[in-house]
Amino acid sequence: MNILLAGGAGYIGSHTCVELIEAGHSVVIADNFSNSCPEAVRRVEELTGAKIPLYEADVCDSAAVEKIFSENKLDAVIHFAGLKAVGESVEKPLLYYRNNIDSTLTLLEVMRKFGVRNFIFSSSATVYGTPKEVPLVETMPTGTPTNPYGWTKLMMEQILTDTAHADPEMSIVILRYFNPIGAHKSGRIGEDPNGIPNNLMPYITQVAAGRLPQLGVFGDDYPTHDGTGVRDYIHVVDLAKGHVKAIEYSGGHKGVEIVNLGTGTGYSVLDIVKAFEKVNNLKIPYVIKPRRPGDIAECYANADKAERVLGWKAEKNLEDMCFDSWNWQSHNLNGYK
Ligand code: NAD
Ligand code: WQD
Repeated sequence: MNILLAGGAGYIGSHTCVELIEAGHSVVIADNFSNSCPEAVRRVEELTGAKIPLYEADVCDSAAVEKIFSENKLDAVIHFAGLKAVGESVEKPLLYYRNNIDSTLTLLEVMRKFGVRNFIFSSSATVYGTPKEVPLVETMPTGTPTNPYGWTKLMMEQILTDTAHADPEMSIVILRYFNPIGAHKSGRIGEDPNGIPNNLMPYITQVAAGRLPQLGVFGDDYPTHDGTGVRDYIHVVDLAKGHVKAIEYSGGHKGVEIVNLGTGTGYSVLDIVKAFEKVNNLKIPYVIKPRRPGDIAECYANADKAERVLGWKAEKNLEDMCFDSWNWQSHNLNGYK
């Protein structure tokens, strides 16, 4: 298939690009580089040997998106193009609602105009809110997001569900990602956050690199095996392969399907710190800090549906995730810069 990757220069998009090309698909990327850079795409070309059509475009801009559709014969769209910083979304809600929802509406409208009906969407485990029980199954009710970012994902799930119901020819796969970490084994592409990282693994790798003095562990009094928060960390290459399966599934499917992409196993913050130290033979100094507002104790997936419906299962373990995260950071101390 020929697939438009909206936001394809970003962390998950760039890894998905590699896996799609290796599986024999071709891709076109549209990105406004608000949280990425063209160098990531250049490195994907270097890894795959493919020439990737790259458009610097805001996918909220219908004219720009129509130009891409008119210049390429597209079969499907994967929509990664979102703003994703939880704290920033609280400070700038309108920016988040405008960018995340408008981009989705624009892509769907242009797809309808050009008769393209396969759509894969980057949703998030954040839509479950504060879980009443874990593991999380797709049929469980969604929760009340604690921030505008989470609301945009929940609202977009509703928009996509309504769109699929109104057009019986549409195939929409909503992928609820858990916590992606790790990097391509080459160390050429990886996560490159702006400023001080909000997420755990990039914070750890920057401590390891000497860019930050120590990790703050947000709370050690949660009802978990060691008191620190538990999450379902998934290797970004596994996650990327989940998109290849979703694209192939969407070719023979109509309607809307919601699928968790997680491993089904939860690890605590201190499990991650210890595994990172062991596999990379490094020390990560840390201090216990108060709980971070809005955090939950535990969040991990029931990943059965992905295996049953998409034929996908995560293959990489925690050691792979910690090794590959540091391999990327240690070879690119300042990210792509
Ligand atoms: P990322 O910021 O690295 O990638 C998003 C890309 O979209 C960036 O390259 C950015 O420049 C681009 N973009 C944003 N708005 C755009 C617009 N209007 N037009 C064109 N390009 C635009 O983030 P990521 O971690 O790769 O996440 C990809 C998607 O997955 C996002 O929608 C995010 O909300 C979702 N998600 C991420 C995580 C995570 O922990 N990384 C978890 C769950 C869901
Ligand atoms: C993981 C664990 C923290 C940083 C967020 C978004 C979610 C999704 C993924 C997009 C928690 C602890 C973290 C630090 C710490 N994104 N931690 N010190 O919060 O599960 O999910 O990213 O959809 O929507 O909310 O991920 O990596 O921030 O935190 O102790 O410096 O690490 O408290 O237990 P989170 P995270």
